[in-house]
Amino acid sequence: AETHYHEFVIQAKPVRRLCRTHNTITVNGLFPGPTLEVRDGDSLVIKAINNARYNVTLHWHGVRQLRNPWADGPDRVTQCPIRPGRSYTYRFTIENQEGTLWWHAHSSWLRATVYGALIIHPKLGSPYSFPMPRREIPILLGEWWDRNPMDVLRLADFTGAAPNVSDAYTINGQPGDLYRCSKQETVRFPVDPGETILLRVINSGLNQEFFFAVANHILTVVSVDADFTKPFATSFIMIAPGQTTDVLLTADQTPGHYYMAAHAYNSANAPFDNTTTTAILEYKSAPCNANKGRSSTPIFPQLPGFNDTNSAIAFTSSLRSPSKVNVPLQIDENLFFTVGLGLINCTNPNSPRCQGPNGTRFAASINNVSFVLPTRNSLMQAYYQGQPGVFTTDFPPVPPVKFDYTGNVSRGLWQPVKATKLYKLKFGAKVQIVFQDTSIVTVENHPMHLHGHHFAVVGSGFGNFNPQTDPAKFNLIDPPYRNTIGNPPGGWVAIRLVADNPGIWLLHCHLDSHLNWGLAMAFLVENGVGELQSVQPPPLDLPQC
Ligand code: C2O
Repeated sequence: AETHYHEFVIQAKPVRRLCRTHNTITVNGLFPGPTLEVRDGDSLVIKAINNARYNVTLHWHGVRQLRNPWADGPDRVTQCPIRPGRSYTYRFTIENQEGTLWWHAHSSWLRATVYGALIIHPKLGSPYSFPMPRREIPILLGEWWDRNPMDVLRLADFTGAAPNVSDAYTINGQPGDLYRCSKQETVRFPVDPGETILLRVINSGLNQEFFFAVANHILTVVSVDADFTKPFATSFIMIAPGQTTDVLLTADQTPGHYYMAAHAYNSANAPFDNTTTTAILEYKSAPCNANKGRSSTPIFPQLPGFNDTNSAIAFTSSLRSPSKVNVPLQIDENLFFTVGLGLINCTNPNSPRCQGPNGTRFAASINNVSFVLPTRNSLMQAYYQGQPGVFTTDFPPVPPVKFDYTGNVSRGLWQPVKATKLYKLKFGAKVQIVFQDTSIVTVENHPMHLHGHHFAVVGSGFGNFNPQTDPAKFNLIDPPYRNTIGNPPGGWVAIRLVADNPGIWLLHCHLDSHLNWGLAMAFLVENGVGELQSVQPPPLDLPQC
């Protein structure tokens, strides 16, 4: 195994898109940031140097970070932020993971532009679980604002309203030729006729789920969130923020130019960016593929409609593990988590900070608790040092009020309580979590992401979860493993996992506006027996609050 050393300088850089230049927070001046390529078993040593005006932390999304929460990154959860002018070195090892993950800033709204791919190849000499592709291409789907994104987002922070919708979507940082001033920069992927390539698709967007397709080409899904799947063929994928999906594509069509495109899957009844980002798959042998060919219009793919929830669910529920997996059968912790938006009454409803209906302020919650980040210390540092008063461990395992989540919505859940509550798990506990969308304020798909673990997605459905009848239908044979799962709008999804990683691990909606409103909680997984089941000591340069 190898150790990879990198320096990530976080700094503002002028970035030009849509004919205008905005000062953008980047890593090493790049947007998107650098791609990390490693093998399973390798170690990474990444010195993050903060030359920006904001506090920063970095998160390696999906890396298990076994016994090493210190490298996980969420601001005030596992570390205090890296202040402007300071640095922190993230040190971690990839243990038994391969596939596509990614990294992003995990403080304030910085991940809008601070992100990149993390590709994990199999150990030297071990093959892929699928035929070796000729080429591998990371495809980062993102969002772009035609103004300084941090200004847009900090305004949203202040008013408590949803941030402005983005002005463009991007593929590897480029909007593509359906937008103004983007034609020359449209990303092009040359292919040889007949070759098979691996597209490593990552949704690094801030607030948007996507449908993605390549015109006339079948995509064979082989992996999601760095866990293999039973290969299955599809004409499109649905991908939520935080998720990754690896697909094989064989260039078996008439040599020519074909668009790959992504647009929103948006089930909420709220304004959204309804534009389409494109890149071009270019057969090398296509006639006139030099400059002239570039003006010939590529073929456009068919994407499901913006609110086509049935297609979104049909895709997600087709995923399976390649063969039988070890799902926990006996459950130690049976958790039922309502996820959704809520509204907090304002004392002064005319305040600019109260932009919700009838002068309320938006707050999102799990089981009616709207998660508040501590200010005095990070959760992990407070826990490790035994500092009291930073958090409590009384997060409710079930919602305080039971109600019909899809119909008669109880007033009780309209007033979430702000608090920093954790839920304690014994090392090795077998956990089931059923997420239920509350449909309060709006019916929405919430991509729920758990740090430090992956989990089996054993079931999902529309309407209210029924604890009497639904568990009987769970797939306990070959459910897919993931680190981020979309809770169907107006429905539920059930996951199972083993809490085998001591430390404090954030669970949250990966729509950044919802995270910002408090749609999060954290697990405290206690140490097990001995060093191999206990949190490692923190590194000496860990930032202090
Ligand atoms: Cu990809 Cu908590 O994040």
